[in-house]
Amino acid sequence: MRFMGIKERIAEIRETMTQEMREATSTQALDEIRVRLLGKKGDLTALLRGMGQLAPEERPKAGAMINEAREKFAEMLEAKASELKAREQEIALQQETIDVTQPVKNVPIGAAHPINLVMNELVDCFTGMGFEVLEGPEVELDHYNFELMNIPKNHPARDAQDTFYVDDNIVLRTHTSPMQARAMLSRKPPIRVICPGRVYRADEVDATHSPVFHQMEGLVVDKDVNMADLRGTLNAFARRLYGEGITTRFRPSFFPFTEPSTEVDLTCSACHGKGCRICKGTGWIEVLGAGMVNPRVLEMCGIDSSVYSGFAFGIGLERIAMLRYGISDMRLLYEGDVRFLSQFRK
Ligand code: PHE
Repeated sequence: MRFMGIKERIAEIRETMTQEMREATSTQALDEIRVRLLGKKGDLTALLRGMGQLAPEERPKAGAMINEAREKFAEMLEAKASELKAREQEIALQQETIDVTQPVKNVPIGAAHPINLVMNELVDCFTGMGFEVLEGPEVELDHYNFELMNIPKNHPARDAQDTFYVDDNIVLRTHTSPMQARAMLSRKPPIRVICPGRVYRADEVDATHSPVFHQMEGLVVDKDVNMADLRGTLNAFARRLYGEGITTRFRPSFFPFTEPSTEVDLTCSACHGKGCRICKGTGWIEVLGAGMVNPRVLEMCGIDSSVYSGFAFGIGLERIAMLRYGISDMRLLYEGDVRFLSQFRK
């Protein structure tokens, strides 16, 4: 390399750079130019490296020239970069402006879960009849879940409810009935409460069973409450849920906390009682357990059974939801599959 050639070479590089810079439309393109020029393998860097071939007395002058060019180029690039950056920002601002007055498009909307739909409907129905909504713990004392419900330790009825025990005194509630006790202990008659919520039983999962499911307890305690009141209340509920012509059928049953006790069937809403596949030809569908509150339970909960009487019922919400929406497999309710759940969007 000759000393005289360096000046021309710098001029050449400058020429190319200016040309390229003029054409650069983004900070990224500019960055590429900078690397090509000033980077480790850049043109100007190569020139600096080639200085070794110059005569020693020419080196300082050549070095100064190259460094000066280097600084100058860096400056030019810097200036151009801030210019481009400003423009890019301006364009971004323009493109990304949000017109807050525009109608919202395409925001995916969730849907209420069928269990909640049914729950809300029942809450609506019963609050309309003067009931108060009461919620309580899912992790419950044995005392409320069993003892106060007249199911003492070693009572065979405990076997029917495959309980998740936390320890000897604490269980995951096996039904919403402990809320009867909580309501009676925290209120004075007249009492009218419904208590929706989750309950737990050590059941295997299949199309009609789940270890977690939902119930809604109902309790009325007042003077002169009788079975006819229970019947009337549940008939109103049946009509509200499935429409005119739907009624109830009471069949004798047993629960330790009610006496007498009854299983309650509703007219099959699919065939209106004629008999079909869903009701297995009977015209009736079993949906809840109910009865007159056992006087022993009233007494244990501090209510004078010679003055007051009451009725209670427990509705299985899964069953209602499945019947109402024609869901054949309970597992669908818990899988969280959007294709299933989005069908309940209103
Ligand atoms: N707790 C009962 C069950 O889980 C249902 C029930 C509630 C029955 C209230 C009578 C009165 O099966």
